[in-house]
Amino acid sequence: MKVLALEGSPRRGNSSMLLDWVLEGVREGGGEVTRLRVVELDIHPCTGCDSCLSTGECILADDMAWLVERVMESWHLVLASPVYFYHLPAQLKAFIDRLQPLWVRRSLLHQDPLQRGGLLFLGVGATRGERLFEGVLLTLKCVASFLGLEVLEPLLVRGVDAPGEVARREDLAREARRRGRELLSRGPGPGL
Ligand SMILES: Cc1cc2nc3c(=O)[nH]c(=O)nc-3n(C[C@H](O)[C@H](O)[C@H](O)COP(=O)(O)O)c2cc1C
Repeated sequence: MKVLALEGSPRRGNSSMLLDWVLEGVREGGGEVTRLRVVELDIHPCTGCDSCLSTGECILADDMAWLVERVMESWHLVLASPVYFYHLPAQLKAFIDRLQPLWVRRSLLHQDPLQRGGLLFLGVGATRGERLFEGVLLTLKCVASFLGLEVLEPLLVRGVDAPGEVARREDLAREARRRGRELLSRGPGPGL
């Protein structure tokens, strides 16, 4: 089962470590992982040119066309990211904005997406407020809907700031690995 994992942080810190653990669980269960860091890809911001409104295709020439292929061929999508000002870092938000052609395909061109697996969000933030992840989760609910993915219970870690601080959280690594293994129980079997 193919799992696409995208890292939203510009640094290798807490969300990256959380993703390491989840993907260990996925691999233990025999899942096939493609792991990418959005900061290492060439993803221009959406220009709002509206070309995709009639075609469902983007006219910008960068890594996004390739990445959309990876998204569509994967059964599950895992996003690991810190919260930046109550939302996602700009590079990951640019990726999401550039999914607009897929939104168009579903909403305007009435091409229903394949019903696939789930969208799992791994989130970290420095503060502890109850509403810390609200903005991100609302966006991801919308994204999951037009990608034909189920929103899976997110793994949210509050109160971590310096890189690697998540490692001090007791039982977190175990819980993250369990989530990774659990992903594989939600699938079509081998193939996608
Ligand atoms: C530009 C920027 C904005 C941030 N905004 C928030 C925020 O709104 N709320 C919060 O709790 N933490 C915020 N943080 C802290 C990060 O979420 C925190 O350091 C997190 O552990 C970083 O994850 P990473 O190590 O995976 O990059 C911000 C950090 C940066 C650099």
